[in-house]
Amino acid sequence: MSKILITGANGQLGNELTAELRRIFGNENVVGSDINVPAPGTESGPFEKLDVLDIHRYEEIIDRYQITQIYHLAALLSANAEKNIDLAWKLNMEGLLNTLNLANKKSLEKVFWPSSIAVFGPDAQKKRTPQQSACNPTTVYGITKLAGEQWCAYYYKKFGLDVRSIRYPGLIGYKSMPGGGTTDYAVDIYHKAVAGEAFTCFLEEDSALPMMYMSDAVKATVELMEAPKDKIAIRSSYNVSAISFTPGEIASSIQKNIPDFKIIYKPDYRQDIASSWPDSISDEEARRDWKWSPDYDLDRMTSEILQELPRFSEKV
Ligand code: SER
Repeated sequence: MSKILITGANGQLGNELTAELRRIFGNENVVGSDINVPAPGTESGPFEKLDVLDIHRYEEIIDRYQITQIYHLAALLSANAEKNIDLAWKLNMEGLLNTLNLANKKSLEKVFWPSSIAVFGPDAQKKRTPQQSACNPTTVYGITKLAGEQWCAYYYKKFGLDVRSIRYPGLIGYKSMPGGGTTDYAVDIYHKAVAGEAFTCFLEEDSALPMMYMSDAVKATVELMEAPKDKIAIRSSYNVSAISFTPGEIASSIQKNIPDFKIIYKPDYRQDIASSWPDSISDEEARRDWKWSPDYDLDRMTSEILQELPRFSEKV
């Protein structure tokens, strides 16, 4: 029986992945953990306060719950990382190394770790960026993700640790908020649209980025982790692709449902981060190795979010 620990379970992806893993494996078999504790009464299963830099407490939780798999999501995102270089390096690297070392020491079955399209820099192929394109990131976040990928590949090769990873694009959902990322605008925009307000965008109108609807991201993660071990040919991190759009295009998609919706462009330092990343991604290897295929395009995602967000906000 698998016993799963999720770090960063209170974050944007952690929140939804924890719910899905609890649905699959049973509430009591999935332990959420985060430095921020959720509001009392909101958790459907066990939850522990954990700073992943505190290796003793991390180990104590693994032992206490007899954990067999870790999904290590705790990290600083791109925009916050630029504001706090030292913390980004410490949290993103030491957090991962603590995870890999503990997983290895305890002979855990599997580890999941998220990488990002941020591993690519300005010299990578811009459109349909291949798996093996140049990885010369110019952001602190990208540097931590690239180094992290190399650590994952190293622990697999050296110790046989079954670490699996995805280079997520910007993740968009309505059930949880992102924090401190460059792709966050594509979540915030729906909240403004539903509230009947104009949206001020921190990126330029034509700045394209790779993106993915949250249910596709959760599906990709579960499928990768459930795939037979011998199918996982890439042990750094897999490119996965779903949608690519600009702020102008997401605004038009919203206007098909809310014709009065207005967007204003006021690019800031996050435009430099976005400009250094690919416009879109090629994910042939993920399609070949574990049969990845996304379900949502931009308009399907927009109609679902615009329909579900008001109901969801009422419930919470
Ligand atoms: N969504 C992330 C960010 O913007 C990219 O991995 O930082």
